[in-house]
Amino acid sequence: MDKHAAIGVFDSGLGGISVLHAIRNLLPAESLIYIADSAHVPYGEKSPEFIVQRSLAISEFLLAQRVKAIVVACNTATAAAVSELRQRWPDVLIVGMEPAVKPAVQASQSGKVGVLATTGTLRSARFAALLERFASDVEVITQPCPGLVELIEAGELQTDTTRALLSSYVEPLLQAGCDTLILGCTHYPLLKPLLQRMVPEYVQLIDTGEAVARRLQSELGKHNLLAEAQQPLDHFYGSGDTCATERTLAMLWPEAQPVIALGF
Ligand code: DGL
Repeated sequence: MDKHAAIGVFDSGLGGISVLHAIRNLLPAESLIYIADSAHVPYGEKSPEFIVQRSLAISEFLLAQRVKAIVVACNTATAAAVSELRQRWPDVLIVGMEPAVKPAVQASQSGKVGVLATTGTLRSARFAALLERFASDVEVITQPCPGLVELIEAGELQTDTTRALLSSYVEPLLQAGCDTLILGCTHYPLLKPLLQRMVPEYVQLIDTGEAVARRLQSELGKHNLLAEAQQPLDHFYGSGDTCATERTLAMLWPEAQPVIALGF
């Protein structure tokens, strides 16, 4: 395996760009291949079987590009498919992600933690296991957020429509006394500027991007696969309307290359 091979990162759409930023900040020499499965966004409302099928196809494509690791930059796809991916490719370094329940429980003073995530993540057995393991001493209030991902994909990061929908999801959690909110979908950190203006200062917003980047760094290090100083080369692929994906991507990763059509 070549230490200068790229790292493959995928999500249902552009939410995983929040993770890509964390990876680039921590590992600036790594080349990145990002896949937005925009033709099938949102994953949050799809069946686990469908998400497994897409995750396998995308991973197969990434491996054909000779990536040295795959990051599932999507909580919903991790919940539905990471076990299947690891089973199919036991020798490939695969990093998944899940809502940051443990750090949120540690951070909460009120003992009430809110989780914003997709319907798929909140319904999953992996999420249930996470709560059982780390959240037995606190009250966890879950909030699915249908519609939010679509607005983010459309580039509506600061509009009144997005503010109103987000507020309808966040307000009940604040009313219930949550002092810690878990952003359990990689799209939601892209709304942090809006969110920060919406919640009192004492409310902590916790996401998983940096933890995933650190995990990736440690796994690559273990396998002697960290890239040495080099100018990284990034590639972006999309399965949907690539022009629309490019428009929103330009707001999130201004130096992005054109989005290449994935073709499946
Ligand atoms: N960004 C994804 C996540 O972290 C999925 C959003 C969606 O497509 O519903 O869960």
